[in-house]
Amino acid sequence: MPKAVAIHQFGGPDVLGLVDVPEPVPGPGQVTVRVRAAGVNGFDCRVRSGGMRGRYPVEFPQIIGNEFAGVVERTGPEATGFAPGDEVLGFAVLQSGTELLAVGADQITVKPPELSWEVAGSLSAVGQTADIALAELRVGPGDTVLVHAAAGGVGSLAVQLVRERGGTAIGSAGEHNHDYLRSLGALPVAYGPGFADRVRALAPNGVDAALDCHGGPEALAVSLELVADRARIATVANFRAAAQEGIVMPRVVRSAERLAALAALCAEGRLRPHVEAVLPFAKAAEAHHRLEQGHVRGKLVLVPDL
Ligand SMILES: NC(=O)c1ccc[n+]([C@@H]2O[C@H](COP(=O)([O-])OP(=O)(O)OC[C@H]3O[C@@H](n4cnc5c(N)ncnc54)[C@H](OP(=O)(O)O)[C@@H]3O)[C@@H](O)[C@H]2O)c1
Repeated sequence: MPKAVAIHQFGGPDVLGLVDVPEPVPGPGQVTVRVRAAGVNGFDCRVRSGGMRGRYPVEFPQIIGNEFAGVVERTGPEATGFAPGDEVLGFAVLQSGTELLAVGADQITVKPPELSWEVAGSLSAVGQTADIALAELRVGPGDTVLVHAAAGGVGSLAVQLVRERGGTAIGSAGEHNHDYLRSLGALPVAYGPGFADRVRALAPNGVDAALDCHGGPEALAVSLELVADRARIATVANFRAAAQEGIVMPRVVRSAERLAALAALCAEGRLRPHVEAVLPFAKAAEAHHRLEQGHVRGKLVLVPDL
């Protein structure tokens, strides 16, 4: 039987374990995918801890994970566009941390050969989140955009996508990440006391938009201080603030088309996702623990045990 990363109860990282799951059969419009890599996201940690209770239906044992890359194994009736053996990447909320999954053919796209399994399996959530947020902020040529937590999964893709849109990204991070941000084409800035003044020094003509990928009070306060138009401040990490302050909370509706466009940018070398570590499924608890420490650069990825 395929193995999956799952929880039997809500709690800390240690509630994660491996379970045997029934071999899925592809239904109408579905394919089965033999998973080679599955990204880890903050969303997974919140589901695991019970923080999403009532917002997503959870049934124990609950599989964790919402993005993957792998090889199509079988196709169901009316599943067009894919054949067994195709290498794909995709998204499937609360299903992806498994060796074999059944997923709609409209939730996958072809994996360009230039992408490693690890990069492909961890692109969907952060890539689509960053891309949608910048679209909602209407980032375009000439814009200067402040990205908070720019070395994280969402932030590191956001600063690169700002550049793709013809803008300049100023990215906040600890000093240890500043060379990394420069390598992505962003202007690094340290968060902490004096943050707003340091951003002003980097942007003498002002900051046009801000994307908060951190969620703390400082990121919110600095965004509000530096960007006059609240329609050009977005957060993907502080939904309470979004409601209270009238700033943008991007509606993340994922699509295979958007994912395909992001994968193409990666294949061309214009988008360079960073994978900090690859861990076996059996070490999912360690991955969640590391992510919750709050200083991962780019992504953590789980791979089925060999
Ligand atoms: N992953 C997704 O697809 C997704 C989708 C929607 C929403 N979100 C939410 O977006 C947020 C970001 O998620 P993520 O996966 O991109 O990254 P993350 O793992 O939550 O954040 C990691 C980054 O945060 C930085 N950081 C830590 N303290 C900071 C501070 N005080 N100010 C600014 N940056 C700081 C760290 O950089 P330093 O080490 O340099 O400090 C690190 O690189 C989370 O709240 C997540 O739930 C994520």
